[in-house]
Amino acid sequence: MTTRYRVEYALKTHRRDQLIEWIKGLLAVPFVLHSQPTAVFEPRGESVDHMAATAQRRYAEIMKDIEELINDHIAHQKAGTHDRSKLKLLVPSVATFFTPLMLHDAFIWQDQRRFISYRRFVPPSFNDIRLILNTAQVMSLVRGGPLELVTFDGDVTLYDDGQSLTADNPVIPRILRLMRGGSKIGIITAAGYAEARRYYERLHGLLDALHASNLPVALKQNLVVLGGESNYCFKFAGDSPDLLKLVPRKEWLLDEMLLWEESDITELLDIAEASLRDTVNNMRLAATIVRKERAVGIIPQDGHKFSRESLEETVLIAQKILEMSPVGRRLPFCAFNGGNDVFVDIGDKSWGVLACQRFFGGIEGGKTLHVGDQFLSAGANDFKARLACTTAWIANPAETVQLLDEIAELDEMQQRKTR
Ligand code: IMP
Ligand code: MG
Repeated sequence: MTTRYRVEYALKTHRRDQLIEWIKGLLAVPFVLHSQPTAVFEPRGESVDHMAATAQRRYAEIMKDIEELINDHIAHQKAGTHDRSKLKLLVPSVATFFTPLMLHDAFIWQDQRRFISYRRFVPPSFNDIRLILNTAQVMSLVRGGPLELVTFDGDVTLYDDGQSLTADNPVIPRILRLMRGGSKIGIITAAGYAEARRYYERLHGLLDALHASNLPVALKQNLVVLGGESNYCFKFAGDSPDLLKLVPRKEWLLDEMLLWEESDITELLDIAEASLRDTVNNMRLAATIVRKERAVGIIPQDGHKFSRESLEETVLIAQKILEMSPVGRRLPFCAFNGGNDVFVDIGDKSWGVLACQRFFGGIEGGKTLHVGDQFLSAGANDFKARLACTTAWIANPAETVQLLDEIAELDEMQQRKTR
């Protein structure tokens, strides 16, 4: 998991989100030309409202242009030439867009809430653009028809790092609202356990509320938990003491996952464990190695806090070694920094999302939204979900609540329009 600080830290490292950085660069031009920092001590001259209106118009025009570049990229995707789009030349790391992004309208929406155009000293920031992209994505999903599947990461997305989803969590009524509207819900967490009880302990607030709600039984079935990225699947079961029931692997594994050999899984975890052990020794980390059926990780010894640098170093070494090993090319894995632990899991969240989509009868990527906090390209585990569906990058659980409120507001606007 990442803290809000760590999301902002993305500004300061080589590990940046290239699309966001590129948009930031484009918006810096109208900021330089239209912001009026001297107006603070020279009150005569243009009014702040006039300045903001001009800046807003110019920012919004740029967002419209980017929206069109993305549409062009999507046209290339459909023609099988996505690597030749103009956007791909400008931002080589862009991959697949599952839907267009309503960037113009999303900018206006966020500007009305964040007063970006009114700012005279602080240009459009990483977080401004991250939130505009989230809004643009949900606008497009809501306008494009019902949102069929919403998947959530656990730590930092639904509850604070290392905590549980308790009964007072404001996300609960919002998730129930989505379910009432017919959306399916997946909780896709790295936390990997084979027993339902462990997930009940983490998620009891939501599970109890769903159980007690007056939702029709058929809709209550629309919640699954995918644990260990994509290793354990549980479905809601009102009659079981933990309100969750393990779904046997043969009922939900994708065909490609059936090809993952046990011997490869052991080999990959052995290499990962050796790498972790090595780093722990070299960096004198006060760490305990945890080996599981489908994961290996380091956790701190009693109350110790690892430095961010140690965590990142440990992840990057394990990732590099695994990438270079033959088994690492055969088998998907995910090495990530969990805030105060490091784990290497078999599989990743793209498989977790794909498994949810299949479990619910074959939902498309363009009808699925994954909400998570870890979207840096290295050492982060929500990033891979981008291969399977649209995504929203939040920085803390309060932002998840805000995003779900945005979806509700947009839903209502959409329904009023179609009535
Ligand atoms: P997430 O943010 O919901 O994906 O949860 C990630 C956290 O789950 C990690 O930071 C660990 O603290 C915890 N965890 C427990 N078991 C596992 C495991 O088997 N693999 C990865 N993370 C685990
Ligand atoms: Mg997380």
